[in-house]
Amino acid sequence: MRKYNVAVVGVGAVGVEMLRVLKQRQFPIHQLKVFARSRRVIEVDGESYQVEELIADSFNDIDIALFAGTEGEKGAAVTFAKAAVERGAIVIDNGADFRLKPDVPLVVPEANADDIKKHKGIIANPNCSTIQMVVALAPIHRKVGIKRIIASTYQAVSGSGSKAITQTEEEFKAWANNLEYNKELAMDQHIAFNIFPHIGSFSDLDYTTEEWKMVKETHKILHDNKIKISATTVRVPVRNAHSEAIYIETEKPISPEKVRDLLKKSPGVIVLDDPKNKVYPMPKNCSGKDEVFVGRIRKDPAVKTGLWLWVVADNLRKGAATNAVQIAEELIKNRR
Ligand SMILES: NC(=O)c1ccc[n+]([C@@H]2O[C@H](COP(=O)([O-])OP(=O)(O)OC[C@H]3O[C@@H](n4cnc5c(N)ncnc54)[C@H](OP(=O)(O)O)[C@@H]3O)[C@@H](O)[C@H]2O)c1
Repeated sequence: MRKYNVAVVGVGAVGVEMLRVLKQRQFPIHQLKVFARSRRVIEVDGESYQVEELIADSFNDIDIALFAGTEGEKGAAVTFAKAAVERGAIVIDNGADFRLKPDVPLVVPEANADDIKKHKGIIANPNCSTIQMVVALAPIHRKVGIKRIIASTYQAVSGSGSKAITQTEEEFKAWANNLEYNKELAMDQHIAFNIFPHIGSFSDLDYTTEEWKMVKETHKILHDNKIKISATTVRVPVRNAHSEAIYIETEKPISPEKVRDLLKKSPGVIVLDDPKNKVYPMPKNCSGKDEVFVGRIRKDPAVKTGLWLWVVADNLRKGAATNAVQIAEELIKNRR
């Protein structure tokens, strides 16, 4: 079996998970290189990794570069993705910088793996809240068509990076010790005993950038701009794994039983739907897993084609690292 030279860029919340996922899924690695802004040694699950400072020539001899650096102008992808491609690497980027570019495939393998074939060096991983919604809804869209989606999210602090996890832990510790938390905030608000409807920045029509990601990325992945999508994204004091209450209206009616059967057979989905026995997905039973968990599937009593689903997934794994590694697995599928 051919083995590949792989680079992981960024060793924050997603980058560290990327190292775990590559190992757990036994990705065929010849040489692994790990980069960030500064050189140091990090330890992940008892294993030491040498982190090198990233420069353009870091990508000489790299086959696949998994980017998990900060987004935006000074971020890793904007600064170095082009240099990586010029040196022959295929970039799989976790950030938002390239997701909506027409020549960059935006891929959730369970929904649109074939789009990978159209890449010109860069493939984008969607936003975490989009990925889990699309894994749950793509099979329903294929079967009966979806014309309307209204999503409300309950997003974990790990989705905002490693500094947000630290803020949360320290805020709760301060509360337990009867102290004020006065440090600079890594998120827009305090999070202990709080939730806030503000992820990303406020943008068109007073929706946040995170809310627009769910609209535009879902259209691109499902190749269907006609679906009417609207979202409210909310940060909650959960350490890891995002939850979403998703309302859909389908083109043709479908019963909750049929949706359950369909999703049970769908790749990457686990149905946990026995509410009378307290069985439904929660961050506590989905964190650390690679699948998307769906429960509380029920009819809208007022609308014949309306349905609710409760969808939970690990935002660092399926919402980021696992999805990126699955894209890499698809890339090498036909090359062994
Ligand atoms: N967290 C999630 O659930 C999630 C889900 C989906 C997508 N994403 C996306 O994944 C990316 C990483 O997120 P994260 O939560 O892991 O962030 P994070 O915890 O803040 O970590 C960012 C990492 O990127 C490195 N970095 C930043 N700029 C760099 C540059 N110019 N060159 C090299 N390395 C650079 C940092 O290096 P230093 O350590 O040296 O500072 C750090 O290790 C972001 O684009 C984010 O939007 C995150």
